[in-house]
Amino acid sequence: MCGIVAALAARNVQGILLEGLRRLEYRGYDSAGVAVLNAAGQLERQRAVGKVAALEAALGQHGLPGHVGIAHTRWATHGKPSEANAHPHRGGHALAIVHNGIIENFEPLKRELEADGVIFESETDTEVVAHLLDRAFLEQGDLLTAVQATLAQIDGAYALAVMHAGAPREIVGARKGSPLVVGVGIDESFIASDALALLQVTDRFIYLEEGDVVRLSDARGIEVFDADGQSATREVHTYVHGDGAASRGDYRHFMLKEIFEQPAVIAATLEGRLGAGRVLEASFGAEAKARFAKVKQIHIVACGTSYHAGLVARYWLEKLAGLPTQVEVASEYRYRDVVVPPDTLFVTLSQSGETADTLAALRYAKTLNYLGALAICNVPGSSLTRESDLSLMTQAGPEIGVASTKAFTTQLVALLLLTLSLRPERGDDREAALVQALRGLPAVLERALEMDAPIAALSEAFAEKHHALFLGRGTQFPIALEGALKLKEISYIHAEAYPAGELKHGPLALVDADMPVVAVAPNDELLEKLKSNLQEVRARGGELFVFADAGVALQAADNLRVLHVPPIDEILAPILYTLPLQLLSYHVAVLKGTDVDQPRNLAKSVTVE
Ligand code: G6P
Repeated sequence: MCGIVAALAARNVQGILLEGLRRLEYRGYDSAGVAVLNAAGQLERQRAVGKVAALEAALGQHGLPGHVGIAHTRWATHGKPSEANAHPHRGGHALAIVHNGIIENFEPLKRELEADGVIFESETDTEVVAHLLDRAFLEQGDLLTAVQATLAQIDGAYALAVMHAGAPREIVGARKGSPLVVGVGIDESFIASDALALLQVTDRFIYLEEGDVVRLSDARGIEVFDADGQSATREVHTYVHGDGAASRGDYRHFMLKEIFEQPAVIAATLEGRLGAGRVLEASFGAEAKARFAKVKQIHIVACGTSYHAGLVARYWLEKLAGLPTQVEVASEYRYRDVVVPPDTLFVTLSQSGETADTLAALRYAKTLNYLGALAICNVPGSSLTRESDLSLMTQAGPEIGVASTKAFTTQLVALLLLTLSLRPERGDDREAALVQALRGLPAVLERALEMDAPIAALSEAFAEKHHALFLGRGTQFPIALEGALKLKEISYIHAEAYPAGELKHGPLALVDADMPVVAVAPNDELLEKLKSNLQEVRARGGELFVFADAGVALQAADNLRVLHVPPIDEILAPILYTLPLQLLSYHVAVLKGTDVDQPRNLAKSVTVE
């Protein structure tokens, strides 16, 4: 979604701002812009529809040099993608603002401003804030006070950065409902919506809290004020993942790099969390043990790929821990009259920790009678982890490809750790065996990645197709859902997933030679039933692609192609079988020539409802 970068330095900041925008491209956007105060102290701005490269082309050779600047990538909400709607927006000739999120009461505010003679240049909600700020600055003569006064008038979710020619060595930022970090440099400082945008200039960050306003200035450095306007101290964190995560290295796409990182990031997610034959439940926080002992039911809420991880966990929690489990997409959960049985643990899953629907679901859940809220999340300091009672961080590192890969499999690992921590029979042989299997998982995943070349060859059969069907049973049904989601997200092929037993109740009518059918067939208790379902497809002339355990007696034949997956404990199979499906969608997308890392219309972190 939208991205913010702002810089105050003694050097020319244009390069820093543009590099920051390039680093935020992965979030998905449709236009970009930059504004600086030039050598004469005047506000200059350039905006362009399309990629950051289009903005650079529009800037031309001379560009916009300046020592203070703000920049933005926009993902349209209010008003179509156009140059006029792109940020930064101006209030008068001296003020510029960039904003992520939505101002909910912008319409009455806009009507008031128009009645006062303000002429709007754009259809955005942001421009309302620009004009309010410009007026407040004229009245107050101080940018920080003007921002605080304006924020008191607006409702909604925002992260923003503002500069004004009348306060030429200052930038003010604010966050409420949308992430914002401050980059701490030596005699220079920065603001961004994501630390990744600033790793080329600093590895030291302040993660602002809800309601915080920050002022960067030459005179006083970095000052943070809380929601009540009181001066606040915020810790400076060192970013530990290194800058390498933000570069593709030798890989053609981030998505491929991230698929191949899975053995390493799963090992990192397990590190320090496994004891001798048991999971260390303290990984979930000091209070976890006491709370876990009371849990009788689980409600899991998430969106997109994270939701699919929750669906897998339901099978595990019921089978291994005997806990009744509900899993629901956050956008539905938040508007339902949810009934909470006693001693229910509320669990959210989110790569970013900033997904608006998931956050809203958490806030709603906190008004209900839950035992507590646990977040499984990949971004330290994110809103979701801060607002939950307990959290477990996955260690996937920054995920740049919009289509989630390593975040999903690390979530699965975290959910299995949770399941084992919740079993009444803690420390038994079953737990010891699964802990052992988890330790061996990275090596098995390495072997699965050796399927890359055969899967690339197989993908040719999909490149000309318009539809595909994915089948699985048990924990492999959510994996089939995830496989279908990956294929549609990045190759734009319409794909559906069904529990294989449901085939005969409808989707079989679609099966013909033009509809490839992908099945995931580990050697589990449902294998024989799955094989019968596959016969139903073959009997209708369907073309089958089966990812199967080497021990499964399935002979390749006409219209039946079998790719063998390394053997694995049945419980861990959904994690393993995800990898070949990720590789399949990746190679199909490459053959189709789509934008693999930034698929059309999608955003990495959906911070609006
Ligand atoms: C977006 C992304 C998906 C992601 C979903 C939930 O739709 O494109 O890849 O699964 O949001 O994101 P979260 O950060 O909450 O896991």
